[in-house]
Amino acid sequence: MNEEHLWCLKENGYDAGLHKHYEGLFTQGNGYMHARGSFEEGCSDAPQDEEYLRFPDNVTLEKPRHPKSKQGTFIPGIVAQHPLLKEEIVNLPYMLGLELRSAGESLDMDRSRISGYSRWLDLRDGCLHRSLIWETPGGMLLKCTFERYISIADKHLCIQRIQVEVLAGEGRLEVRATLRGDVRTNGMNHFARIVPGAEGTAGGLSLETLTEQGNQIFMHSVLDATEAVTWQEENSLVTAAHRGEFAVQTGDRLTVSKLTAVTTDRDIEEGGADSRVLAQLSQAREIGWDQLYERHAACWKSKWQEADIIIKGDDLAQLNVRASIYHLLRANAPEDARVAICAKGYAGEAYFGRYFWDTEINLLPFYLHTNPQAARNLLLFRYNTLDGARRNAQNYGYRGARYAWESSLSGEEQCANWQYADHEIHITADIVYALYHYVRATGDQDFLEHYGIDILVETARYWCDRVDWNREGVGELLGVMGPDEYLPFTRNNAFTNRMVKFSLEQTIACLDSLQGSKPDSHAAAVERLGIRPEEQELFRYTAEKLRLPYDSGTDIVPQSDDFASYADLDFNSIWTDRSRPFGHFISQERNYRSKALKQADVLELMLLFPQEFSKEQLKASYDYYEPITTHDSSLSVAVHGIVASWLNQPEAAANFLQRVMAIDLSLEKKGAAEGIHIANCGGLWQLIVYGLAGLKSAMWSKDIKLAPRLPKGWTELSFQLAWQGERYRITIHPDAHEVHKLEGRSYVAGTTL
Ligand code: BGC
Repeated sequence: MNEEHLWCLKENGYDAGLHKHYEGLFTQGNGYMHARGSFEEGCSDAPQDEEYLRFPDNVTLEKPRHPKSKQGTFIPGIVAQHPLLKEEIVNLPYMLGLELRSAGESLDMDRSRISGYSRWLDLRDGCLHRSLIWETPGGMLLKCTFERYISIADKHLCIQRIQVEVLAGEGRLEVRATLRGDVRTNGMNHFARIVPGAEGTAGGLSLETLTEQGNQIFMHSVLDATEAVTWQEENSLVTAAHRGEFAVQTGDRLTVSKLTAVTTDRDIEEGGADSRVLAQLSQAREIGWDQLYERHAACWKSKWQEADIIIKGDDLAQLNVRASIYHLLRANAPEDARVAICAKGYAGEAYFGRYFWDTEINLLPFYLHTNPQAARNLLLFRYNTLDGARRNAQNYGYRGARYAWESSLSGEEQCANWQYADHEIHITADIVYALYHYVRATGDQDFLEHYGIDILVETARYWCDRVDWNREGVGELLGVMGPDEYLPFTRNNAFTNRMVKFSLEQTIACLDSLQGSKPDSHAAAVERLGIRPEEQELFRYTAEKLRLPYDSGTDIVPQSDDFASYADLDFNSIWTDRSRPFGHFISQERNYRSKALKQADVLELMLLFPQEFSKEQLKASYDYYEPITTHDSSLSVAVHGIVASWLNQPEAAANFLQRVMAIDLSLEKKGAAEGIHIANCGGLWQLIVYGLAGLKSAMWSKDIKLAPRLPKGWTELSFQLAWQGERYRITIHPDAHEVHKLEGRSYVAGTTL
């Protein structure tokens, strides 16, 4: 059966206004490197080296530059300093350049006579295809097919091919292959030196880049053509280029391939990046095109076996879910714990390649249950950046470790906006929650003993300093921004206080249990971290005395102590176009004193601690908050979908499901233009698994427990689940479900970097 419509994201017909959206949506990558889905030849009127100064702003509401096209090549870990915005991931030289030229015209999607255009990303193997017919000024009809992939098996390789079939006419055709250094990141030039090279006439290109931060990036390409050709060097100051000319006539088929290897001085592999790039390239040529593809496709296949969600009865949902899973698989580097997953999934410059709470709360569950090793590495990243978190605490005058709202590679705070940097402190507790989620889902107690304990103790120290004590001796968290970023400075945010209490409780429990069961390990931690007995008592006392602004009798759980005192808004009169964010229709000043939520806050709390709230509390809170929640953040809709599903409101759940799927895929919103909303991709996974399949979180259940509520029309939902070191297949039908244990263990202990 042809399953293409369930696996291929398609662009039928070219619309320049949508190009940037498709650039984001069609991003390819393999964890090590990523490239946006730009055209090989670029776009007219879309220079990539425009210089400008971007100011600290609210990213959600900022009007982005580059209306038509922004190319992007990202290697997680290669960063530079922006003068106002701090650390940002560098947009690297463009390695995909392949241009066609005939009778004085360069093939250009906007200016050439083009018909029969279509483009599609095949999610099965991450290959991007483009097909079109170009009528050249010389009267030739050329069917051009472009294909490319970034190998997920051989991570340093990018493989491209153009095929030109002459449907009519004859003439000359030029092919120009480039590696281009005229690229800016958010308007900044982060390159200190670029050296283009082109080796002889055999089609070898190279571009060696030194960033201002001192990283070296080597890009080397070799070209191959099915017809004899002499490649002419056409290098410029920052671009390596080779041009070849072919005489063609009706019936001819010409194929030109470009194989590019990329290495950097930051790679995990040992040895100089300059020699490794050459070795990569010659090895790849030895392996050959077909074998390279087979290795790549086999690797994707095994990833899909572990991570796919199969939906029968709703083809659109099937395709959209796979699009999200594709990006989750692509964006993660499961064996490199020096990097995590940035907020735009390495598919754009927005959010500067930084790490947010998105990783722990929105993304982690997907990895926990599909590839626990990847989940472990994401947590190891937080362990590896503990020193940065210690420095953050110190900068604020506290002991211990305070994780950054927007983390750099080394863990230091990069957020240029004080509201979030100073007040969105829940991130520090979210990391501990995620740590426990991992340990409970995998049973990997060793992780806690060797790495987790340091995070627990250091963050507990921070919390003990951050808590304020009121006259009754009750602990409070004042001056806090909860997940809802439209209230920047509240008292005792329910979400934050509960997460912090949990974090402190687990620190004590961990220390107690270690002392009882592994005294040597406990003694080593006491020594390493300098834990004093009275400190342990302080953790216990603070955990006990930290107040929550609700109890089991509270009907609508208040978002914070002061929530009721904010102004009510008449949303209809303010928010006159609901296709745009609410934040565009109100000043920040007014927003900050009003009851308008940017995103789920109390409901997020209820999602993370479901057993602590009654059905009545869940319903009352949902009924109260949902109408005043703007969902201006992409992290919000999935949470509401899960709660609606738990409340047995199938229509609302189905509606939220549609909205979640539209976030990156909607053509009206051009959702993916600035990158992928990767947290929402994780949110979609959670909506299906926690919401529609009703899986009880591994945080609170040792066994797999399901309470499925399939949307109308779905005849089957099935997926694999890694759980406590084993793998299961879950299959759900409208009236029955089964959990089937698969052979083999899923968990493999990893290494620390
Ligand atoms: C959201 C945050 C999120 C960030 C990065 C913001 O718009 O409000 O919760 O962490 O985007 O995705």
